[in-house]
Amino acid sequence: MTFPAMRMRRLRRNESLRALVRETVLSPGDLIYPLFICPGKGVRSPVSSMPGVFNLSVDEAVCEAEEAAQLGIAGLLLFGLPESKDEQGTGAWEEKGIVQQALRALKQSPAAKKLVLIADVCLCEYTSHGHCGVVVKAGDGYDVDNDPTLELLARTAVSQAKAGADVVAPSDMMDGRVAAIRAALDAAGLAQTPILSYASKFASAFYGPFREAADSAPQFGDRRSYQMDGANLREAMREIELDLEEGADMILMKPAMPYLDVVHAARERFGVPMGAYQVSGEYSMLHAAFQKGWLDQNRAMLESLVGIRRAGADFIVTYFAKDAARLLRSA
Ligand code: PBG
Repeated sequence: MTFPAMRMRRLRRNESLRALVRETVLSPGDLIYPLFICPGKGVRSPVSSMPGVFNLSVDEAVCEAEEAAQLGIAGLLLFGLPESKDEQGTGAWEEKGIVQQALRALKQSPAAKKLVLIADVCLCEYTSHGHCGVVVKAGDGYDVDNDPTLELLARTAVSQAKAGADVVAPSDMMDGRVAAIRAALDAAGLAQTPILSYASKFASAFYGPFREAADSAPQFGDRRSYQMDGANLREAMREIELDLEEGADMILMKPAMPYLDVVHAARERFGVPMGAYQVSGEYSMLHAAFQKGWLDQNRAMLESLVGIRRAGADFIVTYFAKDAARLLRSA
């Protein structure tokens, strides 16, 4: 049947019809809200490159968590800004580390109990050089040394799970980290703690604003020797396959918008729960356009999120989580 018997516009005539035939649904329960935890009390310091995003002390993070829970958001992803940094990133795994403190406080909050608490496992926020692993001299330059880093990541994951993380999420892109973390969790009696692996993480310019928020910019060089080349789809599939073989329970794709084809390909190929991370640069560029009045804030925000769901992500890590949840609940 073709025109004029068939008219596609019939089902677009009003919102009830459009809602009936809508294929992709976005709800607050699909969203994960990232928080940046810093030392102190009553601290809420704005991140200049990310409007509406703050470095929060533990007490303020608890307030945010309560609000997020009320809005029906699924969970939080926690990053830490330690008191001090060193070559090994000690702040990542010490018992009194900043994320560990936040996890303990959040576990005490009745409202926050509804949230899935996810801890980002990486060293870059905690190392003085800002790389995601141990740095060694190599010839004239340096190398981020894979195998010695695994032990530190595993230690980090165990200490976060002990402090109350419901899920640990390695984002460092070292080879073999999922297996190392799984073995360490199991040995520590934490066999029930799932791993959300940032399986497919590209070396991206879109992490720029995050590095201000988390104070984690590399002091020399860049991350291209461990994060993936943005041109590679097949390599992304191999990374995911390997992480699943090593024991990842869920995978996280990142960034989202410039890599929606990768999200889609992963959805077609793997049956595991999958999230996508709408990263800092995606958020900030939209905000820059909102500030100029070039894009309608609410519509552009929801469209960007629905697109990620339609590509195949089950859940989305996004700095828009609270704004989007508010809007979805009022609709
Ligand atoms: C840590 C990490 C980064 C992001 C998440 N985990 C930064 C990086 O890899 O440089 C970026 C998230 C964002 O841009 O919102 N390795």
